[in-house]
Amino acid sequence: MSSMRRWLVAGGVVVCIGVGGPLPAAVGAGHVEAGTTLYHERCSPCHGADGKAMTPMAQALTPKPRNHTDGAYMNRLSDAQIATVIKNGGAAVGKSPLMPPQPDLSPQQLTDLVAFVRTLAVPPYHPQ
Ligand code: HEC
Repeated sequence: MSSMRRWLVAGGVVVCIGVGGPLPAAVGAGHVEAGTTLYHERCSPCHGADGKAMTPMAQALTPKPRNHTDGAYMNRLSDAQIATVIKNGGAAVGKSPLMPPQPDLSPQQLTDLVAFVRTLAVPPYHPQ
């Protein structure tokens, strides 16, 4: 529980300094490897290393973090929607504020994270 509180506090600090700016245009193609590293550093505590959101912290949260392997849901989101929720946080898009904003991520890092998240979906994601 105390580690969850640390995440929430970190999210709160970030909210004060970063929310609301426009999302800069995405740069370059996403690099799955770089995205994997970032995901494991920043997202796994809640979404799980496998994206299934079965971690103890995930079980403690309501609503639960999104299961990124749920292709039926995830494949309907555009790259821009995913990048926006990662950068600006859940509250900025009408979702849970438990999904923390990460305004320090560069456009390239956001693109890399989206590329990695796309690899998790079952059935696989096919761009329109
Ligand atoms: C402190 C826990 C926590 C962390 C850390 C976290 N998330 Fe989330 N995330 C959530 C929760 C909770 C939701 C569900 C929000 C909802 O459905 O209202 C969510 C939802 C999402 C969604 C679905 C948004 C949608 O439109 O339904 C995406 C995509 C996502 N997170 C990506 C990430 C990525 C990528 C990272 C790492 C950079 C990350 N999250 C870090 C808790 C977290």
